[in-house]
Amino acid sequence: MLVLGIESSCDETAASVVEDGKRVLSNVISSQISIHSPFGGVVPELAARHHLEAIIPVMEKALHEASVELNDINLLAVTQGPGLIGALLVGISAAKALHYVSNIPLVGVDHLHGHIQSAFFSDEPIEFPLVLLVVSGGHTSLFYSENVGSYRLLGNTRDDAAGEAFDKVAKMLGLGYPGGGIIDRLARDGNPAAFRFPRAFLGKESYDFSFSGIKTAVANFLRDYGNPASENKTSYRIEDLVASFQEAVVDMLLEKAFKAAENFKVRHLAIVGGVAANSRLRKRFMEEGEFRGIKIHLAPLEYCTDNAAMIAAAGYYKYLNEGEEKNPLEFEPYSRRKEVPLKQVNFSSKT
Ligand code: KG4
Ligand code: ZN
Repeated sequence: MLVLGIESSCDETAASVVEDGKRVLSNVISSQISIHSPFGGVVPELAARHHLEAIIPVMEKALHEASVELNDINLLAVTQGPGLIGALLVGISAAKALHYVSNIPLVGVDHLHGHIQSAFFSDEPIEFPLVLLVVSGGHTSLFYSENVGSYRLLGNTRDDAAGEAFDKVAKMLGLGYPGGGIIDRLARDGNPAAFRFPRAFLGKESYDFSFSGIKTAVANFLRDYGNPASENKTSYRIEDLVASFQEAVVDMLLEKAFKAAENFKVRHLAIVGGVAANSRLRKRFMEEGEFRGIKIHLAPLEYCTDNAAMIAAAGYYKYLNEGEEKNPLEFEPYSRRKEVPLKQVNFSSKT
């Protein structure tokens, strides 16, 4: 089955053709980084406008690179939410239009389900049950899963997402947007133990995260010891600062993810989303997994940040399980995750 995936929830316009939820035939991404970077973050109005310009060429390119035509496509899968409403509407309207002219079945896909599916693009077979860490610019969530498409929420960030913390710290330091990749590269030349930033663990029972404290700690550090964004010379190396910040974020993610894996007695742990591209995070999770005998599945680098291949793959499984949208021309985008049917886990029954 050939699926055309469409993604426009944030600042990437993407389309991809995927066969049977696994074999990626094309993966086209038009990034808006250069448009938003002068503002230090995504400007929703600009994002929607750019999606509008990019969506048709991007879909055409995805079909062309896969050497297929619209008639060959068996299913349309488009991100329904969470995301920026104006941005989501562009992808959804394009998908509805394609459905209208071709009658190809259409499914709306949850963006987080898409990220989760990206773990399955690696060659390593993933076994269930499994714990999943979704860690991106908009989300930091832990899930427990017994099969594809069914994910129980264990914990969530209570404030910023981990990627947001990377982006905000990079912004404070005047490093540019998005900050994760920039900090990752700088930190490779820094000492992660140079400074000790606070780790928020929020109690033994909790699988929640919090990253606002570390953001404030970095802001206080810059106030006390100087900020290279405004001073020629500081008494510390910026590489050491960002490596120490990154280490604290990775520690928090690692602690909760492995605690969930141990408590739920799973042997497989998957990490997906933009921050899963972080080289230090990848190394630390692999080492810890080896030490604890838990198999680590990292989304392949090219599928960590937003893409439409993951949406096509998640759409394929949704279609197999639930069929097409009942009212394909009427379904609406949603901006926040609460509207997604992901159940909060009941801790008294650890299944
Ligand atoms: O998954 P994604 O593309 O979009 C969301 O769904 O949010 O994630 C983007 C986030 C940004 O916050 C970016 O700074 C972060 O992922 N990111 C990274 C790295 N590459 C991207 N964070 C840390 N290290 C990286 N190498
Ligand atoms: Zn994303």
